[in-house]
Amino acid sequence: MPENDKRIYIFDTTLRDGEQSPGVSLNIEEKLEIAHQLARLKVDVIEAGFPIASPGDFEAVKAIAREVEGPVIAGLARINDRDIDRAWEALQYAKKARIHVFIATSDIHLKHKLRMTREEVLEAVRKGVARAKSYCSDIEFSPEDASRSDMDFMCQVLAAAVEAGATVLNIPDTVGYATPEEFGRRIAEIREKVPGIDKVKISVHCHNDLGLAVANSLAAISNGALQVEGAINGIGERAGNTALEELIMALHTRRDFYGYKTGISIGEIYRTSKLVSRLTGMPVQYNKAIVGKNAFVHEAGIHQDGVLKERTTYEIMNPEMIGSFQNNIYLGKHSGRHALKQRLEQLGFNLGEKELDTAFKRFKELADRKKEITDRDLEAIVEHEIKHIPEKFVLESIHISTGNKVVPTATIGIRIGDTLKEEAACGEGPIDAAFKAIDKATGIPVCLKSYSLDAVTGGKDAVGEVTAKIEYDGQLFIGRGISTDVLEASARAYLSAVNKVVYEKGEEVLGNVAVNS
Ligand code: KIV
Ligand code: ZN
Repeated sequence: MPENDKRIYIFDTTLRDGEQSPGVSLNIEEKLEIAHQLARLKVDVIEAGFPIASPGDFEAVKAIAREVEGPVIAGLARINDRDIDRAWEALQYAKKARIHVFIATSDIHLKHKLRMTREEVLEAVRKGVARAKSYCSDIEFSPEDASRSDMDFMCQVLAAAVEAGATVLNIPDTVGYATPEEFGRRIAEIREKVPGIDKVKISVHCHNDLGLAVANSLAAISNGALQVEGAINGIGERAGNTALEELIMALHTRRDFYGYKTGISIGEIYRTSKLVSRLTGMPVQYNKAIVGKNAFVHEAGIHQDGVLKERTTYEIMNPEMIGSFQNNIYLGKHSGRHALKQRLEQLGFNLGEKELDTAFKRFKELADRKKEITDRDLEAIVEHEIKHIPEKFVLESIHISTGNKVVPTATIGIRIGDTLKEEAACGEGPIDAAFKAIDKATGIPVCLKSYSLDAVTGGKDAVGEVTAKIEYDGQLFIGRGISTDVLEASARAYLSAVNKVVYEKGEEVLGNVAVNS
């Protein structure tokens, strides 16, 4: 065992910085679902949001603070009274709460964004950290744009934050400008120069603009940082944040080198990644380290031969470690409810009786169309079909006529309560026609913002997974659908996004649609 076998603390900001990814918008239920999964992953801190940013953010932080146990729950605040008070209003319910306050310290930000002098920034830090401390003992302070800040001034600000009661000093590479050697040196210098630094924990928060976020975080660890911030799948502003699954597995796999452990339950990594990807609608790139579809696939003959003889010839980790089971034991149409239940349990899904009934029904429907049902298919069924929100509109039937010499036409049957509504529409293509027919049936004026189609499994009878993002009243809603028929998957995805609109905005959006449910 390495001598320096200490612990690195993992601060997850998927729900705050991660949610700042372009095109991502999570509702409270989705944020809670992710927060519960992060607790199962055993992250040390969940940054649940930025309470002053919007009423939705405030409510989400409050709900997570009330419900999610285990990790510390943090909320972000600029260093002013209103932000700090609002953050505490939401966080006060948490068993373990942390207020995370920040202000920029680089001259670029002071001059162009804050229009403040260095003296004014110092004063704001003294006052702001002290105010936060009057509410809560655990205070994190971040000098935004730290990697482009003048070292001596930043150290002065950090010292003021420690004196006013900060317990964690977080050093952000806000614009992803740092390189590993340089960033590591910065952390070492902070340790030398800031009085009282031994009383607090040093944290880092790296952005990935140059693809260096994980490397910079590891360099910081080598120089004394004890907390790393990041997001699942590396999502976040612009090119994103440190991908936590990469950092965690680097520390785990190279513990011989770094000598640090984390408290993470690594068997939950794969499930967490899938959940975040599904709820944010942000696909994971195929060759993404650790959680990408190809991360553990050996293609070259020489590699396959080596792995078959001895796994470690070409594998430094294996998928089972992160909870991804690829030993596909196929279930088919003759498999029973019990077999399905058992396999789902092995995959980590413990469903209630009603949920299992739904999953079994969808499993049988799929098995009628597809010879072999793989673990990926099962995951897709559970993740997509076990609905968490009530479905105002249920897809009953879909008929599409299309070809290169005909106008694509869709006829859609949608159940609304006891009423079956049928509508037909023509479109630019079959999917456009289907969406137009759905629009007619629901009567809700939504606008399609993005559409993506992915094959969950291989082969001609692969299950297609569609993600549709729609806009209603300036807000984004994400829907997903699966089927071996991509047109049906598309209609399901679109309709599930419309159902979210109804759920979140209330039945007034229904206008003159029949609503006798
Ligand atoms: O990137 C950044 O500087 C931030 C801070 C608020 C920590 O997200
Ligand atoms: Zn950030």
